[in-house]
Amino acid sequence: MIIAVDGPAASGKGTLARRLAQHFGLNHLDTGSLYRAVAFRALAAGADPADPDAAVAAARQIEPSDLADPRLRDDKVAQAASLVAAIPGVRTALLAFQRDFARRGPGAVLDGRDIGTVVCPDADAKIFLTATVEARALRRFKELQAAGGPAIYERVLQDMMLRDARDRERRTAPLQRASDAFELDTTALDADAAFAAALRYVGGLKPRR
Ligand code: DC
Repeated sequence: MIIAVDGPAASGKGTLARRLAQHFGLNHLDTGSLYRAVAFRALAAGADPADPDAAVAAARQIEPSDLADPRLRDDKVAQAASLVAAIPGVRTALLAFQRDFARRGPGAVLDGRDIGTVVCPDADAKIFLTATVEARALRRFKELQAAGGPAIYERVLQDMMLRDARDRERRTAPLQRASDAFELDTTALDADAAFAAALRYVGGLKPRR
């Protein structure tokens, strides 16, 4: 079984995907970490993450062990990730890794921006999460505060809007709902309520094969 979970930053994708994977005994891949790892490699090499040659070279060097680096969570890396993600050659270089992961073993839950539209258009279940940008910025702001770092809500909101615009407006594989995806607005839902709604949707699907 393959489950695609797509949506903008801080819409609750990661938490929902992890819980679905655990519930159904599937592997889980946070595909955003691939783009973050590419951005991190480009920045570490002193390159401009918006430079296609440098970003594609970084994408070809990605190793599974890169994905666990906690430094990938930095906001600077997140901004750079949205730049490398707009480069078609980077997306092509990462496609085979994602598809191989999805097909392996019992199947997988993949979360990202283009899983239901490009990476796994034949997924058994597709969930598209939405939430207002203000609610998503507030979640991120609280996460930063809880981590003890400096955080200014207006700044977090601005960064989120910038990243949203890049993810939605890029030409290759922009963030968009697949026509056959179940849309779930998490603005007023906590993680438990979102999980319950997703389970009702997945449980109500007819087996594909
Ligand atoms: O979900 P995230 O914040 O970790 O994603 C980091 C960046 O990677 C985000 O700006 C969009 C991009 N991304 C993408 O283009 N396609 C995906 N499948 C996953 C992430």
